[in-house]
Amino acid sequence: MSISEEAVAAFRTAYGTEPAGLWAAPGRVNLIGEHTDYNDGFVLPFALPQRTVAAVGPSPDGTWSVCSTLAAEPVAFGTTEPGEVTGWGAYVAGVVWALQDAGYTVPAVRIAIASDVPFGSGLSSSAALESAVLTALIDLGGLDVPLERRPAIAQRAENLYVGAPTGILDQSASIRCEAGKALFLDCRSYAIEQIPFDLAAAGLAILVINSNAPHQHVDGEYGARRKSCEESAAVLGVTALRDVGVDELPAALDRLGDEVLRKRTRHIVTENQRVLDTVALLRAGSVREIGPLLTASHASMRDDFEITVERVDVAVESALAAGAYGARMTGGGFGGCVLALIDADRADATAAAVAGAYAEKGFEAPTSWLAVAGPGATRI
Ligand code: GLA
Repeated sequence: MSISEEAVAAFRTAYGTEPAGLWAAPGRVNLIGEHTDYNDGFVLPFALPQRTVAAVGPSPDGTWSVCSTLAAEPVAFGTTEPGEVTGWGAYVAGVVWALQDAGYTVPAVRIAIASDVPFGSGLSSSAALESAVLTALIDLGGLDVPLERRPAIAQRAENLYVGAPTGILDQSASIRCEAGKALFLDCRSYAIEQIPFDLAAAGLAILVINSNAPHQHVDGEYGARRKSCEESAAVLGVTALRDVGVDELPAALDRLGDEVLRKRTRHIVTENQRVLDTVALLRAGSVREIGPLLTASHASMRDDFEITVERVDVAVESALAAGAYGARMTGGGFGGCVLALIDADRADATAAAVAGAYAEKGFEAPTSWLAVAGPGATRI
């Protein structure tokens, strides 16, 4: 059964009727630009073919009901305030709340969710859920919410309702990405440019390797990184670290006494430049040449931002040793997935090399697949 069929079947079983429609939103891979989003910087994600599907229909009683093929218990709620719905249902209740908070009249609906976005792997399964529900509510309610405003509404659901202090990367990717393109996003102005990202034409592919590393202390570490960046910006007297260019970095580092702040700042400033350099190469059609930037990004996350773990580092090193042009962890860190830029015919060999390195270390086997840039959130 496809994910769409699963969502429809779940809707029928839960509510005994047909849905009014189906909406889908993808997970994402961030090609480069990690932790730059909440520093007003640059990111370059593309949408995964894996997505979350919401089968949605009107609610007969003015309340919201949600069930999921991935959860044992359904969730039901009326109008709520942040914190009232917890667990996975908070992502849905949060979107309803954020739309209402922005002044919209949100239609009461019944929802059934199905998804093949790997959960808890740094591929934005939560943003996919928020974005599918948000798009459905906007369409069914006939709400006039321009595309460029939608990611910030979903982000408010996550920041203020769920309580995760994340940036705007994931929701922007899930909502604004286009098939065959990488999304170059300025996280300060929300300006975008769709960058052609046709790997197959260049004989290349992106292999995504799920390290299957257990996530530990992720939320606290994420918040701590964010706080360090804000502290650095305050010391340097800038609105955000985006305002420090690479040519100004040596002077900025001199002004930051604290070694941790220096490292965090160096990552953000150099990472922003790597996004700009990657975009310039892709615009020029030099896809293979982005490899060293990806690998440099990983080294920066490992040594300066200190958000990688051994399984992730081993995946990057073994992919590179197997001939990848570049490799890096993608997403928030402390586990999750690695992406490797490889020749299209090297997928099996690269995956086998990483699996071999994992076996040698006694790590649980990684999962690997090729990622092709898919479409953003839409009615299907
Ligand atoms: C998580 C957050 C994003 C972003 C990335 C790191 O995915 O949700 O906002 O900060 O980490 O780039």
